[in-house]
Amino acid sequence: MALYRFGIAVERELVDEFDRMAERAGYSNRSEALRDLMRDFVIEKKGETEDIPVVGSITIIYNHRKRIPEKLTEYQHGHEEEIISTMHIHLDRDHCLEIIAVRGSARKIKKIADQMLSMKGILHGKLVITAIPEQIKR
Ligand code: NI
Repeated sequence: MALYRFGIAVERELVDEFDRMAERAGYSNRSEALRDLMRDFVIEKKGETEDIPVVGSITIIYNHRKRIPEKLTEYQHGHEEEIISTMHIHLDRDHCLEIIAVRGSARKIKKIADQMLSMKGILHGKLVITAIPEQIKR
């Protein structure tokens, strides 16, 4: 794909700090780091405003002694089309970490994440959505 050059005005300090962080993160140049940020922004904003196809993961932590597993399993069986895989990790005697891979329309995936994250007993969690760049072009 052809690259388009453009200029932006930014405080010198911010650019210096950005370059340092980009280098630390392994980027070979500023443009590549900025492109990644822009893709992330576009996918996130499109996912909020348009019902695009997305993939992602929902990460949750809970105490398994509080009957959460039954509720979670029941819920997940009701959304078998969007929930494509689940990884369960026993963190310590009480706590479990679950990483749930999801795929579907942005609207549905957000609703599923909201419903799971707001379940009583879920201690912390987060949804990360992404998309195949070619599939979100309009
Ligand atoms: Ni466990």
